[in-house]
Amino acid sequence: MCGIVGYVGPGMGSHPLDVVMEGLARLEYRGYDSAGVALVGDGSLFSEKRAGKLVNLQEALARDDVPDARTAIGHTRWATHGGPTDENAHPHRGGTEGKLAVVHNGILENFHALKQELDADGVEFTSETDTEVAGHLLAAAFERTGDLTRAMQDVVVRLEGAFTLLAVHADQPDKVVAARRNSPLVIGLGDGENFLGSDVAAFIGYTKQAVELDQDQIVTITARGYEVRGFDGTPAEGRPYEVTWDAAAAEKSGFDTFMEKEIHDQPQAIADTLLGRTDATGQLILDELRIDEERLRGVERITVVACGTASYAGMVAKYAIEQWTRIPVEIALAHEFRYSDPVVDARTLVVSISQSGETADTAMAVRYARSLGGLTVSICNTHGATIPRESDAVLYTHAGPEIAVASTKAFLAQITACYVLGLYLAQLRGTDEHAAKARELMGELNEVPEKIGALLTEMDRVEEIARFMADTRAVLFLGRHVGYPIAMEGALKLKELAYIHAEGFAAGELKHGPIALIEPGQPVFIVVPGPDAPNELHKKVVSNIQEIRARGARTLVIAQEGDQDVVPFADEVIRVPRTSPLLQPLLTVVPLQVFALHLSTAKGLDVDQPRNLAKSVTVE
Ligand code: F6R
Repeated sequence: MCGIVGYVGPGMGSHPLDVVMEGLARLEYRGYDSAGVALVGDGSLFSEKRAGKLVNLQEALARDDVPDARTAIGHTRWATHGGPTDENAHPHRGGTEGKLAVVHNGILENFHALKQELDADGVEFTSETDTEVAGHLLAAAFERTGDLTRAMQDVVVRLEGAFTLLAVHADQPDKVVAARRNSPLVIGLGDGENFLGSDVAAFIGYTKQAVELDQDQIVTITARGYEVRGFDGTPAEGRPYEVTWDAAAAEKSGFDTFMEKEIHDQPQAIADTLLGRTDATGQLILDELRIDEERLRGVERITVVACGTASYAGMVAKYAIEQWTRIPVEIALAHEFRYSDPVVDARTLVVSISQSGETADTAMAVRYARSLGGLTVSICNTHGATIPRESDAVLYTHAGPEIAVASTKAFLAQITACYVLGLYLAQLRGTDEHAAKARELMGELNEVPEKIGALLTEMDRVEEIARFMADTRAVLFLGRHVGYPIAMEGALKLKELAYIHAEGFAAGELKHGPIALIEPGQPVFIVVPGPDAPNELHKKVVSNIQEIRARGARTLVIAQEGDQDVVPFADEVIRVPRTSPLLQPLLTVVPLQVFALHLSTAKGLDVDQPRNLAKSVTVE
């Protein structure tokens, strides 16, 4: 939530503004209800900010007489304190003649108390934000200390809550100072210029050399280098790393929207997530986990913590991991985890799933699990993010940058990583027979990218159905077994992209209440397991289709190639390639993503940046 960019270059010019605006464009998915920049030249500070999308800021800047600068900061906002207005947009200025500017991601929980103190000193506020408090405090601290880094040190110890703060001051035009607590920040190292960003997308157009920071650290960047300190001033080191993708991966590559591009990235995302995780004989090798094998063998229960789409990947994982390992798996929504007094001990493996690695609820759940002695493994798509850094081990997904707010390729990569983890545990704890089964399933998983590629060429009818349904007011989704989380995911995609009431149900639950929703013409998607699924699953779902059809539902059936049993009861059959029952989610979810994308487009909505949302939910 909120995107932040900072830049210091070698000389005066328009480059700092260009860098920051480009960074904001790449970070806009993190928040898009207002945006602003501050530029520092020699002894002067210029700022501009506007409510609405980045284009409003661009238009305002085009009308401004923008001075040359050597340093710049920028912000794209997802509002927490104070609505999305020009006044509440960042940067906020502080001090005599407004010589200081600050941008902020997070929430300052004690801002009321601090504001009262500043009110009593006669400080005048121009916004309703918590951030402005930090601006005034920093300005006052700068007046006392004459140095922005010292000022930041003085102020951060007074702040409670989560924050990344970036500040510039007209009297120190050659530096940007930042601080982070429970909110993301990464350094980018250029040649004679340096960068700060909420994530590496902020500066990927300029450098792939990044530096990871810890919590409670202050960083000062200049054109020549960077310096990291703890909140108490103790010198510290960042951890340098190289970003493995380039700017092209964060472009639309000829597609109309990032979401469409990311749906088409899915075969690659799965292939890359599988890559290098088996040896020449097909055995799974997960040395990267660096967890003692004995400890993993001793795991007695698994708890998955995640939110939203990532939690549905966890639901799929439950079915697979329980079947392969016989270890009980429980799914906890990360924001509920702490409040349920969870049973976690040294034999509990707590698997967090997060695309961004910065979701505050999930990060808090991981910390809590560690405090209870649990063994924590993070499945994450973002190198060096908070959650993997704070976990005992990490299994990265390799989906590349996901820019569209609605998750697609990260979801498939998460499911893939869960399969890899489940099969690895089975191999580790099991017999030769288990190892052979793991090899067989890995072989099958390796075929999935090609199958998705083929499926994506057959989506014309789904697009057409979506266009016809642009006026639909409610859509239901049914599934059993691994089809159940896919029904939930189909409904979530439709809610967030098309603002349509959508519900996903376990098909067996229908008769216990929801069937009352069925009236003539009600569209219902049904995710049908393959005919080879265990426990007569297929037959049972076919019966569920008949039950709703008998009550007038319009049945949109997602079924495996060759499944003729569904035909008599389906208004539409959407075919997916064959695969083992537990691997089907990787295929059955694709038509539902495509459906939501095209229905949103047919309604003329913003597919990549749906209302009220932001990509990375960094506040609890
Ligand atoms: C929905 C969506 C969200 C995220 C959730 C967790 O399309 O993207 O439900 O899945 O906010 O985000 P991460 O995976 O970054 O922890």
